[in-house]
Amino acid sequence: MNDLVHRLKVKEQSVQAHIQLLKEKNDELQALSDKLKEADRLKDQFLAILSHELRTPLTAILGYAELSLEGIYGPLTQKQTEIVTFIHSNGQKLLTLMEDLLDIAKIRAGTIEINIEPLDPYDLMADIRKYAENSVRAKSDVRFVEDIHAGLPGIRTDRVKLEQILTNLLSNAIKFTERGHVALSVTREGDSRVKFTVEDTGIGIAPAHLPKIFDPFVQLDAGVRRRYGGTGLGLTICKSLVDKLGGRIEVESIPGSGSRFSVWMPVDSRPAHDSSGGQAA
Ligand SMILES: Nc1ncnc2c1ncn2[C@@H]1O[C@H](COP(=O)(O)OP(=O)(O)OP(=O)(O)O)[C@@H](O)[C@H]1O
Ligand SMILES: [Mg+2]
Repeated sequence: MNDLVHRLKVKEQSVQAHIQLLKEKNDELQALSDKLKEADRLKDQFLAILSHELRTPLTAILGYAELSLEGIYGPLTQKQTEIVTFIHSNGQKLLTLMEDLLDIAKIRAGTIEINIEPLDPYDLMADIRKYAENSVRAKSDVRFVEDIHAGLPGIRTDRVKLEQILTNLLSNAIKFTERGHVALSVTREGDSRVKFTVEDTGIGIAPAHLPKIFDPFVQLDAGVRRRYGGTGLGLTICKSLVDKLGGRIEVESIPGSGSRFSVWMPVDSRPAHDSSGGQAA
């Protein structure tokens, strides 16, 4: 009997020692996790400040380049025009990159601001059309076509963010299409949703690549990256914004034939009215 009690005591001590060890390990992991969270927060804050600080001088560079091209400081020679155009287009690329990084930092930090307001979809489409027609101009073998249904409901959403989503999808469609068309369609889906579709006849996306297409910094292959440029942030931003507005985004594609991105947006994106119910892709 005594022996049994003794053995039980020894066992209990051993269990206690293990529990103590687990507690210590748990505390260590917690401390590590806190450190990582803080480092992540600092990184996002750093990125946001950096992007902001870089944007101001860059805007000045772009502004002066534009004024020079307009001839405000006197006529430019052909060579000077070429060089200032080069400065402007590279500055513009840098500005887009800064804005994308700033958006990603804000999205990750959860500080992205959403301003929901009533919006006439036809009014938004007029701006989107201007953007698409302008961007497609450089591609002589690509046509922009649109199919905007009659009877679309007025929507409540963040106009700037919705415009950003659609122009991002259109810019990809135009970038990755050498001939054929880029089509935008807008239809009503019942009483609670509007569906936007951006379709192209471009290079398409391999099925294996589709599941990670909305991940940050994903560019599907080095050849595509070298040829088309970009950073691989556009679709990540699109997906985060669609989520934030209570919508859903999906992609279908056939390599060599083209791609179709569909976005379902609630007619009312105010949180209490979030009627999307679906999981984003
Ligand atoms: N319409 C499309 N057709 C073919 N491939 C596409 C299309 N849209 C996106 N992709 C593929 O998905 C990748 C990620 O797209 P995303 O818009 O996130 O990045 P990006 O366009 O390369 O760069 P960024 O948008 O940051 O300038 C692209 O690099 C391309 O490989
Ligand atoms: Mg893109």
